[in-house]
Amino acid sequence: MAREQFGICAEPNLHGNYLLFNVLDDKNAFIRAAISRLPQLFENYSEQFSEANLIGVVAIGEAYWDEFYPIARPALLSPFPAMNRDDRVAPTNNYDIYIEIRSDRADVNHIVSSKVCQLLGDSVELIEQVQAFRFLDGRDLTGFVDGTENPQGRHRREVALVKEQDDSFFAAGSYLHTQRYQHNLTLWNSLAEHEQEDVYGRTKLDNIEFPSDEKALTAHTKRTSLKDEQGNSLEIVRQSMPYGDMKRKGLFFVSYCASPKPFETILKSMVHGDAHGNSDHLLKYTQAETGSAFFAPSLNFLSKVAD
Ligand code: HEM
Repeated sequence: MAREQFGICAEPNLHGNYLLFNVLDDKNAFIRAAISRLPQLFENYSEQFSEANLIGVVAIGEAYWDEFYPIARPALLSPFPAMNRDDRVAPTNNYDIYIEIRSDRADVNHIVSSKVCQLLGDSVELIEQVQAFRFLDGRDLTGFVDGTENPQGRHRREVALVKEQDDSFFAAGSYLHTQRYQHNLTLWNSLAEHEQEDVYGRTKLDNIEFPSDEKALTAHTKRTSLKDEQGNSLEIVRQSMPYGDMKRKGLFFVSYCASPKPFETILKSMVHGDAHGNSDHLLKYTQAETGSAFFAPSLNFLSKVAD
């Protein structure tokens, strides 16, 4: 049975480094060889710093996939669903390679990130890097706990991983979407606490969900808590982390799923809203600046990709 990259369903960490690369022309064979060595590199460092709970994930950009591995393509891999409505935007930009390095030690992340860059060498250009951190007790920088309604335990694997019967060649892989959001915290902090709570549909301090009939149709948890035609909840595994310095502050949003569809449907519900135009009011206080689609293949695939 194929095994997934362990970071996909891992518990949250204290520190995260997200590295986004583009590949230079004609370097595909080298890149395949380098990528196939990454899981072992992560494994070695996770043994060396065993108390740091290090995990790494590597994923391949949707637009680069066919060059990276022309033989086969994950069945549902498709471009990032860019969208906009009024002043709400979800832009897209392509990266060829995504590397997520998370652990409970910023120094270990630094060591591993440096090694990854060394391994990929001058075959790639580092286009974007985000250093992220756990904020208080797992809160977003808006002050609300993020991740409470995430699938838990073994259920995460059911939500995040491609099933054998759906796409046997890419089983245990995962469809990944990322968006870097920048918050307008000055505007957000001008709201009274109860107004902020209405925006999420949850209480701030003790993180309690509002009863459904007390949630505004524009509340973030109303717009994102959706069901399909059969009445099943649309689920994704969120692995987002806050990032920021004294100039830019926000959330690096990360979602893994067995299909790209749930993310697209939820994003649409946020940006376009329902039939009556109720869109997500959280988007008044934060704006997506990037948006990318990737596939994070199984460990079995990665071990053979250079053959
Ligand atoms: C719930 C923050 C963007 C999907 C939540 C919660 C917070 C939060 C605080 C409530 C606690 C929880 O269950 O995690 C944010 C922030 C965002 C953002 C700060 C951007 C800056 C997104 C995006 C999506 C998304 C882009 C998907 C397209 C969800 C889902 C839930 C949720 C599915 C759970 C809803 C429920 O079942 O109650 N988010 N989120 N979020 N968010 Fe977001």
